[in-house]
Amino acid sequence: LIKNPCLSFLKRYLQRMSTDSKIIDGKLLADEVLSEIRAKMAAIESDAPKPAITFVRVGEDPASRSYVARKQRVANELGFLSDIQVFPETITESKLIEHIASLNANPNVHGILVQAPLPAPLRTQSIFGAVDPRKDVDGFNPINLGKLVTEDSSGFVPCTPLGLVEICKRENIQTEGRHLVIVGRGLIVGKPASILFVQKQLSATVTVCHSKTQNLQNITRQADILIAATGLAGLITAQHVKQDAVVLDVGINRQGENLVGDVDFESVYPIVSRITPVPGGVGPLTVAMLMVNTFKAYLLALKI
Ligand code: GUN
Repeated sequence: LIKNPCLSFLKRYLQRMSTDSKIIDGKLLADEVLSEIRAKMAAIESDAPKPAITFVRVGEDPASRSYVARKQRVANELGFLSDIQVFPETITESKLIEHIASLNANPNVHGILVQAPLPAPLRTQSIFGAVDPRKDVDGFNPINLGKLVTEDSSGFVPCTPLGLVEICKRENIQTEGRHLVIVGRGLIVGKPASILFVQKQLSATVTVCHSKTQNLQNITRQADILIAATGLAGLITAQHVKQDAVVLDVGINRQGENLVGDVDFESVYPIVSRITPVPGGVGPLTVAMLMVNTFKAYLLALKI
């Protein structure tokens, strides 16, 4: 019964009553998104093809292996078809692009995800650009990045920025007119998130900070919503955060056995109104939004 999307609000309300209401439960929100996809899947005729995603991984980076495995598990749980193609670190750019071209041409593949980072000397942008924009569920092809800038909703938006928006929507975090400060200007999160949050629908006032920003604290302390996407463990401390700010921590950094964010959770927690933990905050939403994009690519391919 509780899987019914109509009851998800009630479920979330009950959970919020029984848990810490400051901490945003990304797993719970991701489960809501996934159950909405499940409901849409159930409405499709059973003899129709299933949504299909192919993951491309180069080399054996342990973090990439674990991320791709998790994405595949969630895809399979939804009843999507999935495949992981693994290539050696020694593969040339042109060979890898040839493989991507064959996936582009394969009508049984609806979504393609090339896991970053790619080992040198492969140029990530050249590889991302080889993915057919209609199958680019990661949203990194320049056509889709262009559609993001022009607010053309037919394109694909990168998954982590989409996940950040989903958190704001589902947690009633107002963005319109509010100062949203992003620390990090990377292609995967910071840059696309900055473009997404200034779009009319969200209408935040966006500031992007990066490694050359002077007086970082002075800027981040002005944030109503602070997004940390630097990959530097614990960079954001209590001194960087305004009282009652919302803090969304995109960082996933390994510290010995533990995963920690870009935010020093212990020191920041008492100040904020809401905060995402690591793990269990933004990460599950990234995976859920990949499934949303894959389902969109599937509908696009089947013209449903
Ligand atoms: N590496 C870290 N995050 C991502 C992502 O969202 N997509 C891809 N392809 N690689 C990543």
